[in-house]
Amino acid sequence: MKRKSKFIISSMVQNDINDVLILENKIQKFPWSKQNFIDALLSSYYSKVIKYNDIIIGFIIAMFAPDVTDILNLGINNNFRRQGLATKILKLCETQSLLLGNNILIIEVCKSNLDAIKFYKFHNFFHIGTRFNYYKCKLKNINYMEDALVMKKLIY
Ligand SMILES: CC(C)(COP(=O)(O)OP(=O)(O)OC[C@H]1O[C@@H](n2cnc3c(N)ncnc32)[C@H](O)[C@@H]1OP(=O)(O)O)[C@@H](O)C(=O)NCCC(=O)NCCS
Repeated sequence: MKRKSKFIISSMVQNDINDVLILENKIQKFPWSKQNFIDALLSSYYSKVIKYNDIIIGFIIAMFAPDVTDILNLGINNNFRRQGLATKILKLCETQSLLLGNNILIIEVCKSNLDAIKFYKFHNFFHIGTRFNYYKCKLKNINYMEDALVMKKLIY
């Protein structure tokens, strides 16, 4: 008999937003605001959460534009990384994208986010451009800007 996965993937709903926000603030250098998540759901963006024992440990949000799919946000709790969970929700998103006839995926990632860049390269995203001074940062009260890499992937 097939063993049931301990991880449950479901669509993100309004009730999930507070927990997603807590996770977002723990793991992202440039966290989305609560309003960003609310707007994403109101806009019916593709959004999934991964739960482990009813606790949200990961999520993805993507926008299906007519010709491309833009991965807007993706994150996994530190304690659950390198288990293929981000891969799992990215693949689900890719399947949905293909069903809609989109075979181009786009992401923007901070140039200094080497873990995420490795993840996206592992998934055959390639660098197509740079948005200079795209992210506003603050370190020890000093403001500075960071570049975003734009990466693309073709899916079949
Ligand atoms: C990037 C992130 C989503 C990856 O999540 P994950 O669940 O650990 O990724 P997976 O387990 O599916 O990784 C698949 C492959 O990607 C590569 N990879 C993922 N994280 C990596 C890391 N930290 N260093 C090197 N390679 C990495 C590996 O090849 C990995 O396969 P392996 O574990 O068999 O070697 C996670 O590190 C994260 O949430 N980071 C903070 C938020 C963020 O930066 N999001 C992306 C920008 S929106």
